[in-house]
Amino acid sequence: MADLITMDDLTNEEIVELLDTAQRLLPVAKGDVYAPLLQGKVLGNLFFENSTRTRMSFETAMKRLGGEVLNLSSIGSSVAKGETLYDTMQMVNGYSDIAVIRHPRQGAAQYSADAVEIPILNAGDGAGNHPTQTMLDLFTIREAHGTLEGLNVMLVGDLRFGRTTHSLSHALVRFGATLMLVSPKSLRMPAEIVSDLRARGKDVTETENLSAEINSADVIYMTRIQKERFPDEDEYTKVAGTYKLTAGDLDGAKGSMIVMHPLPRVNELCASVDSTKHARYFEQAFNGVPTRMALLCRSLGIKVPKKVA
Ligand code: CP
Repeated sequence: MADLITMDDLTNEEIVELLDTAQRLLPVAKGDVYAPLLQGKVLGNLFFENSTRTRMSFETAMKRLGGEVLNLSSIGSSVAKGETLYDTMQMVNGYSDIAVIRHPRQGAAQYSADAVEIPILNAGDGAGNHPTQTMLDLFTIREAHGTLEGLNVMLVGDLRFGRTTHSLSHALVRFGATLMLVSPKSLRMPAEIVSDLRARGKDVTETENLSAEINSADVIYMTRIQKERFPDEDEYTKVAGTYKLTAGDLDGAKGSMIVMHPLPRVNELCASVDSTKHARYFEQAFNGVPTRMALLCRSLGIKVPKKVA
């Protein structure tokens, strides 16, 4: 069974194949074509942390492919009575064919995968990884630039706790990206990730200055400073509001440059950017549907035909 816990679980060839599959599934994702490839299959959607996009796009993906979804969260389940993750996973193993898990604890997705037979997809484990987000991010970048190869990408904001940037940076350097990591000092990308990126990648620069490289960027990937991960609220207050990208900041940007954000945003990405040609974040969130369809099919061993319609 094919789990997806980190981007290390996919080769570059598998990533490209999944993006191609997602491309073919776009009409199904939009609801223009019905393709019940997952009829009779049940997805366990397990969210022990808040989510709008990941939970809903997995549910949409499963339903548009004819499958069924069981939703479980900490509230309203026996987790609130103290049931362990191990025991909960044994139940999910019996009730569903595949499970998606989001959990506040780093390593919880791997722990769950080790505990059950069914495939597990990591939908975010604490400040660890978020590989299904990376797949939709890569899809969005490829749609905009026609390639994943050799792009200049700025990752901005909370790179310490930001699991989306941990997974995405890893994938991007494998496709030859030049990375500019922009964060306050206290929220720098963990040193072990930076050294891994440098060992694999072309060029990785760290800075606190958002404006310096905007004009040479192909992608600006903004992220929220994650208040919920700070052990001390005073530490959060010191860095909250450090970056605020506005439409005016993009005046000298390349015409093809895209602004992305995994969302939700707080105040780091101003609404003025929404109406520029650079904004891609709402499209990016929608791209969760076709990419997660492709991932569900892969993990369940379902072949997606070359012609879906
Ligand atoms: N991008 C993302 O993970 O969004 P949600 O937290 O709403 O799922």
